[in-house]
Amino acid sequence: MPSPSRVYSGIQPTAVMTIGNYFGAVRNWVQLQDERECVYCVVDLHAMTAPYEATELRQAAREMFVSLLAAGIDPDRTTVYIQSTVPEQTELCWMLATLTSLGDLSRMTQFKEKSGLLKGGLGEDDGTFISAGLLFYPVLQAADILAYRAGCVPVGQDQSQHLELSRGIARRFNSRFGYLFPEPETLFTHVPKVMSTADPTRKMSKSLGPRHYIGLFEEEDSIRRKIRSAVTDSGDTPPGEVSPGIENLLTLLAACGHDDDAAQMREDYFAGTLRYVDLKGRTADALVALTGEMRDRRAEILRRETDLDGRIMAMGERARTIAGETLGRAREMVGLFPPAPASQAARHAAPRTSFSV
Ligand code: TRP
Repeated sequence: MPSPSRVYSGIQPTAVMTIGNYFGAVRNWVQLQDERECVYCVVDLHAMTAPYEATELRQAAREMFVSLLAAGIDPDRTTVYIQSTVPEQTELCWMLATLTSLGDLSRMTQFKEKSGLLKGGLGEDDGTFISAGLLFYPVLQAADILAYRAGCVPVGQDQSQHLELSRGIARRFNSRFGYLFPEPETLFTHVPKVMSTADPTRKMSKSLGPRHYIGLFEEEDSIRRKIRSAVTDSGDTPPGEVSPGIENLLTLLAACGHDDDAAQMREDYFAGTLRYVDLKGRTADALVALTGEMRDRRAEILRRETDLDGRIMAMGERARTIAGETLGRAREMVGLFPPAPASQAARHAAPRTSFSV
């Protein structure tokens, strides 16, 4: 029996990891390694549900893999891998799909948002292509988690509905076929809300454009420039409140580990003695110190890993060992055959009589 407290989480393969990704998820993943067995996944199969370029997907997944290592995920202790290297998960996704209700899937908020259902009618009504992959997204997510029989999933609040669905699927499998899957608990941790420095009313996101986010491996000059030009006062902040821009800078400063400084500067703000240049300078220094370390580590990894794809395959192999064991049992429990070994299949292949070209 694996420990029910195995930790599992996934991250989308975007070529750039932002400080928002780091403070919002990855830093927590790094810390969890000290407490539990952890498995972390770069979800390239999930990324296929949004428009993407086939020629860029592998590179984005590679970048995210390296970024995770640079951010402190330790491959000696933790299984960190790319989703598509483990076909068992896709296979489990099918089994779980047969235990998932279409109604539940179509009620998922993320599906409704992305498919345009919220705007009334399926986005397809106006000719847009809505893939069934978008509908299946949470089933694949459940397969990710359950393939590793994980008991604990650190995610943001936006994933709570998907996790609830995963628990329901696990429950249905267990009651229909016998116990196999622990019901994964969601581990919500306190995550600072990091906003765009150019528009502090919006969440920091790559999709807003380069002015709006700070990359975890970004050059020092560029980070300083973005903090220097960060929006501070918007003019319409009610008395007794901190403007969104200042709030964001204080959040960033605290997130870098300078909570005391941030608390002091918040007091200064209300006392009317806070100089914004000081806050910006302090925040930029803190960010540069933190990210500089990450950037050095990233450069070191790229220098050391002469065979990155080999490394990715080795990690996939480790993940497959765990997922394969689960799948072997699941196949048996649901009444399927084991997969035929490919080599043997070739040896016993029926004579090819009817092939003509
Ligand atoms: N859907 C998650 C997100 O967008 C990513 C994800 C995929 C995930 N599979 C997962 C998270 C399994 C936790 C567990 O953030």
